[in-house]
Amino acid sequence: MYEEIPDDIKLRNSVRRYKPTEVPIDKILTILDAARIAPSWENDQPVRYVVVNEPRVLKQITSVETVTMGNAWLKSAPCVIVGVADPSKSGVREGIPYYLVDFGASMENLMLAASSLGLGTCWIGAFNEVRVKSILSIPDELRVVALTPLGYPDYPRILTPDESYSKKVSRRISLKDFSFFNEWKNPV
Ligand SMILES: Cc1cc2nc3c(=O)[nH]c(=O)nc-3n(C[C@H](O)[C@H](O)[C@H](O)COP(=O)(O)O)c2cc1C
Repeated sequence: MYEEIPDDIKLRNSVRRYKPTEVPIDKILTILDAARIAPSWENDQPVRYVVVNEPRVLKQITSVETVTMGNAWLKSAPCVIVGVADPSKSGVREGIPYYLVDFGASMENLMLAASSLGLGTCWIGAFNEVRVKSILSIPDELRVVALTPLGYPDYPRILTPDESYSKKVSRRISLKDFSFFNEWKNPV
């Protein structure tokens, strides 16, 4: 049960305040490598990332015109990773576009790897895709699916598994509402 979940999974949380400390390149590469080895539809690997760590570009990417007012806190991040996927490099089955599924698997690997290295992330879905593409010269046919800041949290990392339980897991639906054995509505 909860106690048995690996700490790296329990301790990942959305971090929205960062120290200005630069993230070492070797850590960035490790995190990208974790994202790279995620599963994908027919191993088509439609996901790509652009790392933004140059101050001039970072300023444009984190402006409120690009990421909306609600994400203005993003300015504190020393690095932003922009997640891109190519819909033509994946399949659609029963109406489900698998490039988005592949992207989710890769992004979760990325966030868990970052967390295990003591770095914070936060999935950002609210941004202006046209602006992001223009700033980074991303080809029109690709989709920017998400951004995440990457950096050292500006507060003690959450914390112990017990604290993470009270702060996070308790805000999730219960395991009984979430999962079933053998038949829908037959709670675990
Ligand atoms: C698809 C998606 C879009 C999100 N967009 C934003 C966003 O634009 N800004 C933000 O601060 N958090 C965003 N989040 C983070 C969620 O608010 C967060 O994951 C959720 O509240 C659970 O908290 P936790 O990540 O700390 O466990 C997004 C998460 C997902 C999966």
